[in-house]
Amino acid sequence: MRLGNCHNFHDFRELARRRLPGPIFNYIDGAADDEVTYRRNTASFETCDLLPGVLRGLGDVDLSVTVMGQKLAVPFYCSPTALQRLFHHEGERAVAAASAKAGTMFGVSSLGTVSLEELRKAHSTPQMYQFYFHRDRGLNRAMMQRAKQAGVEVMMLTVDSITGGNRERDLRTGFAIPFRLTLGGMLQFALKPMWGLNYVTHERFRLPQLEEHIDMGGDAMSIGRYFSEMLDPTMSWDDVAAMVREWDGQFCLKGVMSVEDARRAADIGCTGIILSNHGGRQLDGSRSAFDQLAEVVDAVGDRLDVMMDGGVQRGTHILKALSLGAKAVGIGRYYLFPLAVGGQVAVEQSLGLLRTEVERGMKLMGCSSVSQLSRANLRFR
Ligand code: FNR
Ligand code: LAC
Repeated sequence: MRLGNCHNFHDFRELARRRLPGPIFNYIDGAADDEVTYRRNTASFETCDLLPGVLRGLGDVDLSVTVMGQKLAVPFYCSPTALQRLFHHEGERAVAAASAKAGTMFGVSSLGTVSLEELRKAHSTPQMYQFYFHRDRGLNRAMMQRAKQAGVEVMMLTVDSITGGNRERDLRTGFAIPFRLTLGGMLQFALKPMWGLNYVTHERFRLPQLEEHIDMGGDAMSIGRYFSEMLDPTMSWDDVAAMVREWDGQFCLKGVMSVEDARRAADIGCTGIILSNHGGRQLDGSRSAFDQLAEVVDAVGDRLDVMMDGGVQRGTHILKALSLGAKAVGIGRYYLFPLAVGGQVAVEQSLGLLRTEVERGMKLMGCSSVSQLSRANLRFR
């Protein structure tokens, strides 16, 4: 199997499964507990069907949307994900460049492996900086200032991760940063020498967003431990309200799910929320963003921009979310598997496929712009 044979999410995932060392593949692919929420995320799109319109005299189709003041050429964006240079040596550079080519927004994680400043300078499409609320308040303030100075357009605070999800695949392999693998985990690396060669022949692994503040040097740290030890579980609405005031710009919360919390986000001046369960990686058994979308859009859709992520694998998934009122849709593993197997070229390929699917879907739906999608063209089974 080669890149040229990859036509959809499943093909890229399968190629990644074959090429990546098991611990890396399972870190990306895995989720919490029994992975029920992870499976539901994609399955929830199948609870409804699209109802197309015909004979609409369609010309060109406009896929652009405006979300949190940012104009995107397509209604999807690359959600922030951690540790990308571990998956492929081009890491965040590849994802940012491919997003820029697609005319869309990309997120940079607190646990990113390329600095937010470098990425901001390299491209002009909007950048979200994804922030975790650390126990060290000085660090929180310093990170916001850095992002502001760099010219980051959108601040995104992830609120579903005050403690680590139970990711049993990582427990089995011993996945941690830097590496401290179980014997079985090490064996799996030995079986994929190409990955190791790429890793050791490129720039040293770093966490430039955090390294000035956190010493991750000698001691291996699992993602669960990072969440549980470094992040502040006492984070409250008052803390976030202060951050929103300090940022004084586009500010969204990622991981809000309930109507009550969505209302509070609007009350404290957030300009967006992302319904998300972190790709099923945190609270297993929690609801899927798509299942929860209509309720939240109805409650606060006129006060802030509602987005969603989780389980998106097809253009039609995006059309369904837009029809329910999402302003844009985030993708995670959809671009991570391509990144892992082929760097920028492959991320570009995957975003191109998704764009084509959305465009084709819009035509078949009889819609020439995203604003024409509505609940009238959806039926729940
Ligand atoms: C993530 N996600 C994530 N979210 C976040 O706010 N900060 C982060 O550092 C990360 N890191 C991360 C790593 C990996 C490997 C994955 C798969 C996910 C969650 C991400 O932004 C998004 O919410 C989900 O990936 C969406 O689900 P899908 O599209 O992967 O199903
Ligand atoms: C994850 C983090 C880092 O989901 O957000 O692995």
